[in-house]
Amino acid sequence: MNILLLGSGGRESALAWKMSQSELVDKLYIAPGNGGTSQYGTNVALSPLDFDGIARFVTDNAIDMIVPGNEDPLVAGIYDRFAGSGILIAGPSQAGAALEGSKDFAKAFMSRHGIPTARYQSFTAETIEEGYRFLETLQAPYVLKADGLAAGKGVLIIDTLEEAKKSLAEMLGGMFGKSSATVVIEEFLSGIECSVFVLTDGNGGYRVLPVAKDYKRIGEGDTGLNTGGMGAVSPVVFADETFMSKVESRIIIPTISGLKAEGITYRGFIFLGLINVGGEPMVIEYNVRMGDPETEAVMLRIDSDLVALLKAAAEGNLGEMPLAISDKAAVTVMIVSGGYPGSYPKGKAITVDGPIEESILFHAGTKVDENGQLVTSGGRVISVSSVGATVEEALAKSYRTASKVNFEGKNMRRDIGQDLLRLQNAR
Ligand code: AMP
Ligand code: GLY
Repeated sequence: MNILLLGSGGRESALAWKMSQSELVDKLYIAPGNGGTSQYGTNVALSPLDFDGIARFVTDNAIDMIVPGNEDPLVAGIYDRFAGSGILIAGPSQAGAALEGSKDFAKAFMSRHGIPTARYQSFTAETIEEGYRFLETLQAPYVLKADGLAAGKGVLIIDTLEEAKKSLAEMLGGMFGKSSATVVIEEFLSGIECSVFVLTDGNGGYRVLPVAKDYKRIGEGDTGLNTGGMGAVSPVVFADETFMSKVESRIIIPTISGLKAEGITYRGFIFLGLINVGGEPMVIEYNVRMGDPETEAVMLRIDSDLVALLKAAAEGNLGEMPLAISDKAAVTVMIVSGGYPGSYPKGKAITVDGPIEESILFHAGTKVDENGQLVTSGGRVISVSSVGATVEEALAKSYRTASKVNFEGKNMRRDIGQDLLRLQNAR
């Protein structure tokens, strides 16, 4: 079959790498892709939001399945646009994508289906006074979330009541444009987070992919500004059988049956952002795609054919389709541009002192310039992924490989996975 993968990050590099290994694939196209994805398929200069352009491309190139890597096309309704056209889409309908596209919808969905999450209420400019009163009933720190998509920046965690009220007014006043016209205020939960990925077929069938933990802050020891993610580790020591059986019975099954009961079509990945509160899993957020950089670790632990799984999910029939998961550990360390997540230069020449033997380099913000030189083109530049018998071994490989990739201003966290290793040693 011919596949069109949408996106241009490290996640799409890892998805393309994995899909390109499938015997089911004739041609793999990546739109728009990056400086590394052309190793796995053909880059196409199309925006994932250009549905008319995608429709023409799909017809001209006999595409059988579209795999949206990022949330934007899903929230904009790519599933609905192509549903019934004979083209498979691995993803949710626009109604399902609201699990990520609207935090207010996601919270209300969880309340309707008894899915454990922080206590919350939602407010608009008209109900701001009630918002202030609700804040007064909570303990610090205060969690304020823009309802809509805000490029990962829409969540504020604030220490004092006074500042929380001020931020509520600013958010409702347009701090994140239309995305914060509604603000969700919720109770602060304390615990360690992890990312659980589920592939579902919209007919009650699902598979649970390897669990991962990502590292969101720029600074070592989880300090400094939030980023898109600086590294990831899989498996996650505390996501053991007991924890995962709670996740399955209290969160995954009610989510899938809730979608079905509400008549929402969902045939793709569900990303559960969970927090472990004293051994009890609670949902921090839903995303309707895979995580980045978690995918750059998770794909290395999937032994089965991803294309067969995605096709079966998109057809609504995961049935007995096998999902074999490796016992090995996989990690990824993200190499970023100096200055990121603030402003950073682009166009820095990247050198790789090959050969790269113990890791895979998943390109994220790279491109090949007019002179054929590989250069930086984003904040997160290259994700260095490795497999090992243990997390320590995989990390050692990624850090050795990362030292071979160089460009001016290169930065990375050197403590990826250290918290999990400490937890493991304490068990
Ligand atoms: P979200 O975009 O909803 O994932 O929020 C971004 C980050 O804010 C999460 O990964 C958590 O680290 C943090 N966060 C969100 N909601 C809460 C909460 N209720 N309690 C504690 N931390 C939270
Ligand atoms: N790594 C978190 C995310 O993809 O949203």
